[in-house]
Amino acid sequence: MGTQKFDERPFSRVVVTGGCGFLGSHLVESLVDEGCEVLAIDNFATGLRSTADLLADLKSVRVAEHDICENWNASSEVRDFFKKPVSHIFHFASPASPTKYTELPLETMWANSVGLGKALDFATSLGSRLIFSSSSEVYGFAPPPHAESAMGVANCFGPRACYVEGKRFGEALVYSYNQKYGASHGVVRIFNTYGPRMSPDDGRVVLNLGRRAIKGESLQINGDGNQTRSFCYVEDLNRGLLAYAARMICHPLNLGNDRQISINELALKIRRMVGNLKLPIEHLPSVQDEPIHRQPDLEQSLKLLQPWRPSVELDEGLKLTLEWIRSNYVSLSAEETIAKVPVAAI
Ligand SMILES: NC(=O)c1ccc[n+]([C@@H]2O[C@H](COP(=O)([O-])OP(=O)(O)OC[C@H]3O[C@@H](n4cnc5c(N)ncnc54)[C@H](O)[C@@H]3O)[C@@H](O)[C@H]2O)c1
Repeated sequence: MGTQKFDERPFSRVVVTGGCGFLGSHLVESLVDEGCEVLAIDNFATGLRSTADLLADLKSVRVAEHDICENWNASSEVRDFFKKPVSHIFHFASPASPTKYTELPLETMWANSVGLGKALDFATSLGSRLIFSSSSEVYGFAPPPHAESAMGVANCFGPRACYVEGKRFGEALVYSYNQKYGASHGVVRIFNTYGPRMSPDDGRVVLNLGRRAIKGESLQINGDGNQTRSFCYVEDLNRGLLAYAARMICHPLNLGNDRQISINELALKIRRMVGNLKLPIEHLPSVQDEPIHRQPDLEQSLKLLQPWRPSVELDEGLKLTLEWIRSNYVSLSAEETIAKVPVAAI
């Protein structure tokens, strides 16, 4: 079968909502590398001000502190930026980790509905292409590997529903704008992504395990640890995002890495990498509605986003992430000798 061709939409001036978050800030940097002028809109619900400072140092980036659920025209930075054409809007504003979205359930639902609606209004009326950051969570309890054609089965009345249903509603909203206005907005279904700049308190497993291991604390795992995830290094995700956004693909595509690992194996690997085989592994109660397995079926993405494919090995990505955790989030005391052991990629 030949490669399907799509029209291309070159990047020029780009808006990233949630641009001071983990994924948003890496995306902003990649867009700058592509020669773009970028506006990052963020209200710091979960993003870090230190990330905003880092971005503000980049020549062609502006940061607007604004809640995307409020009137966008109320922000002079946002108003000014939209005076000239904007090629793309990446809608990344939303709490993303279970810890954060269960703390901020309504904010999560509004960001993926009201906030997304405002972004779609701007994009549609100004001819920008919007990319919505959806999630593997839309597949709910469906068995892996998750192909885009799977409908997903999810609990709409539970602690994770604000996020799962927020993303499902968001996808439907993008579809409806495309139908009603003949627009070409798109949806990416992102699977677990990790890397430097994850927020220290948002409870994501790589950061949690890495931080505790470096500090010499027990490694905490929810449930029996046999649940599996497929971890994608942020650099790989970014390349996929740019490939998707540049091509006028409108249907959802999975983005991530399809290599699965159990959380128990991940903990053992991190323990070896920080050089402390004696660290205890502690099992905490399992989390309600947590999916057992997550693994993207990448067949469509590999075909349509050629030559994209995830290429950073887990050991390499973890090494970079652990080094970053060590230098950013772990203050060393004389007793914390373990933190002085160099991170080995194994
Ligand atoms: N990281 C992952 O593995 C992953 C997986 C699937 C989907 N996603 C999606 O990607 C997007 C980014 O995730 P992340 O991991 O970077 O999370 P993050 O929490 O680090 O970043 C989200 C950013 O959005 C900002 N934000 C939230 N609500 C806002 C609002 N109302 N107005 C303005 N800014 C707001 C936050 O302050 C933060 O800077 C999210 O939409 C998330 O659902 C991420």
